[in-house]
Order: sequence, then C-alpha cells, then structure tokens
Amino acid sequence: MTVPLEVRDIWYGYPGGKGDVLKGVNLAVERGEVLAVVGLSGSGKSTLCYCLSGIVPHIYQGNLRGQTLIKGTPTTSMKIPEIATRLGIVFQEPDNQLFSPTVEDEVAFGPENLCLSREEIGERLELALKQVGMEGFRFGSPNQLSGGQKQLIALASVLSLDPEILIFDEAMSQIDEQGKAGIKSVIVGLKERDKTIVMIEHDFDNLDVADRVLLLRDGVLQPFEGRL
Ligand SMILES: Nc1ncnc2c1ncn2[C@@H]1O[C@H](COP(=O)(O)OP(=O)(O)O)[C@@H](O)[C@H]1O
Ligand SMILES: [Mg+2]
Repeated sequence: MTVPLEVRDIWYGYPGGKGDVLKGVNLAVERGEVLAVVGLSGSGKSTLCYCLSGIVPHIYQGNLRGQTLIKGTPTTSMKIPEIATRLGIVFQEPDNQLFSPTVEDEVAFGPENLCLSREEIGERLELALKQVGMEGFRFGSPNQLSGGQKQLIALASVLSLDPEILIFDEAMSQIDEQGKAGIKSVIVGLKERDKTIVMIEHDFDNLDVADRVLLLRDGVLQPFEGRL
C-alpha cells in the first residue's frame, strides 16, 4: 500500500538564507501513526512542516532538493487546493492562520470551498467545534479569543476538512493543561480513525500520544533518546 506521507532526501535552504536548514531528511509516516518530532528552537522543525505540506516550494521557494510524496504523488506536481483536501496543518502561530470575521466563517471556510451541501457544511462545522470544545464561541470573533482558544479554532478549521494527514506545529504551545488533554484526546481519536499525524512538540509531556519520536538535529532526523 502507498505510504500516506513520505519525504525522500530533502535538502532545503531559504532564499537568501545562511545555507541549508534541512540536510538530507528521510521519513515515511504510516496510516494510523502519530509521529512526534522534537528539536531545539531554530533546528528547522517548522521548516520541515513547510516541506511536508507543500508550502515549500509552493509558497517559499529557495534551494530545494529531494521530494515530498503524498500518497505517492510529489507535492510539486499537486496544486495547493489539492494538497489542502488531503493534508491539514495547524501552525505554531494561530494569528497567521485565522482571517475570518467569525469563528463560524473560519471553520466553515474549508468545507465551503469543497462545495459541499449546506447540510454537510453545517454538520462539519458543528462537529469540528465540538471536538475542540469551542461550540460556545461559534458566533464570536477569532480576534477576541485568547492565544490558546485561537489554536483550538485553527485546529477546528483543519478538522472540518477531514484530511487524511494532519500536521501540528507546536499546536498546543498556548493552550492550558485542560485544553491540552482535550487536544491529545482529539489526536488519539484521529489515530483511531486511521489518520496520519505528525506533531512537532517542545513539551515532552505531550509525547505520550506519539507512537514514535524523532529528533531533528543538524538538519537530519535521528532517534530521540530522551534529551535534546
Ligand atoms: N522565512 C525564512 N527565511 C529565512 N530563514 C528562515 C525563515 N524561516 C526560518 N528561517 C531560519 O531557518 C532556521 C530554522 O527555523 P525553524 O524551522 O523556524 O526552526 P524551529 O521551528 O525548529 O524553531 C532558523 O535558522 C531560522 O532563522
Ligand atoms: Mg517552529
């Protein structure tokens, strides 16, 4: 069976940057697997997320070698909307992800672009908000939410698209303990539904939901032995 998400010997440096951030990354993430990636700040974890999700090279160009494959198809030969139906990403900084006037618009945006029926859009919206425990904020503005609540809405807006692959780039960094437990149970639920998950984490307490943990160091992925 084709691997949902695979990276083959990726080397990448930003345009005008100081050389390669990623220096030969290889990775295959299976169906139903939760892979966690840890690493020091500045080690290239977010850059790896960009390479996994097609943001590199569709949005950030630069010096890229190697390939990312989504179900065997290189992201370079897919358009962004096509990638977005298969792979969802929750960014480290939710302010960069939220742009709608209301929570409802934000979470419904993806399904609306898939041209689903009104009914289906409504169901997906309600389910996604319920999954992250934010039903009560449906008619509010994302601007008025706390950082953690914004992260929950960013997650809901990915869940409403129901992608096969989900990438969390330190998506729990601004969320309180109770919220973290909620997100971890969402991740476990996604795994049970055979989704493929990559989570970037700086908090080792959150690694308990991962099947496998890798360390990004010196531009490559290596086994994680409990210390950065
Ligand atoms: N848009 C960019 N342009 C140039 N350099 C960047 C850009 N984004 C990140 N970098 C550099 O790439 C390296 C890795 O950054 P990043 O992937 O954000 O690391 P992490 O997520 O592990 O903290 C850092 O040296 C950072 O300064
Ligand atoms: Mg980062």
